[in-house]
Amino acid sequence: MKLLIYGDVVGKLGRAGVKLTLPDWKKEFVPDAVIANVENVAHGKCIGVAQIMELKSAGVEIFTGGNHSVEGKNATSILADETIFITRPANMSPSLPGKGVVVFKKNDLSNPLLVINLVGQVNMRQNYDSPFHAVDKILETYSELTPYKIVDWHADATSEKSIMGWYLDGKISAVFGTHTHVPTADAKILPQGTAYISDIGMVGPMDSIIGVDVPKSIIRFKDQVPAPMDVVENGPIEINAVLIDIGTDGKAVDIKHLRKILINYTI
Ligand code: FE2
Repeated sequence: MKLLIYGDVVGKLGRAGVKLTLPDWKKEFVPDAVIANVENVAHGKCIGVAQIMELKSAGVEIFTGGNHSVEGKNATSILADETIFITRPANMSPSLPGKGVVVFKKNDLSNPLLVINLVGQVNMRQNYDSPFHAVDKILETYSELTPYKIVDWHADATSEKSIMGWYLDGKISAVFGTHTHVPTADAKILPQGTAYISDIGMVGPMDSIIGVDVPKSIIRFKDQVPAPMDVVENGPIEINAVLIDIGTDGKAVDIKHLRKILINYTI
């Protein structure tokens, strides 16, 4: 099974980055499923119906999330919509809308794909439940369902991210990091066959601080003034994704990071 997975899609330029690369990458790589993290898809800070539909029409089939997934006025209805394969982290409060795991089926796939979403506990504003216990519980329930199991691991600290990768080695086909928006150069296959990367990196404005306005970010950090986090909506786009190949036994065969910069483009 071949998966094309985009990292955090940030705002308008993020959506454009997916739409501008997906047709060519679909032709070149022929993925069995296309996945994107969408917690920043609407105005850089939440999910939204129009924005999810825009990506769905472009060919994204599965949508994962993170700490911002439950924000935004339509979050509850989007996360409850059975026609959209969408997750929010499994270890968030059960009082929140949405689910932490989806089973993706397609007629031409011999087995379904289990997509799990987890959020980290380090450097996060909320005190989330243990992602380790949450994933153990999910695996207990779904262990026999399919060999194809992946985790969008939405966390901040590379130490915590790496620990989860090793914890799930051999139990999960791929653990891919999201949230920090900056790609890491550590894509690898762990000894028991789990594909791993600490962070795929974002799809969004390249001339930005993780997607938001540079001068205002400098003011926030240098002068401790609460300047707004405006998402950058023009300029070059960076597109970060991974291509993961999984064998029929559920072990990963290959993981390749894809990165493209678009300077001149039309949207
Ligand atoms: Fe996040």
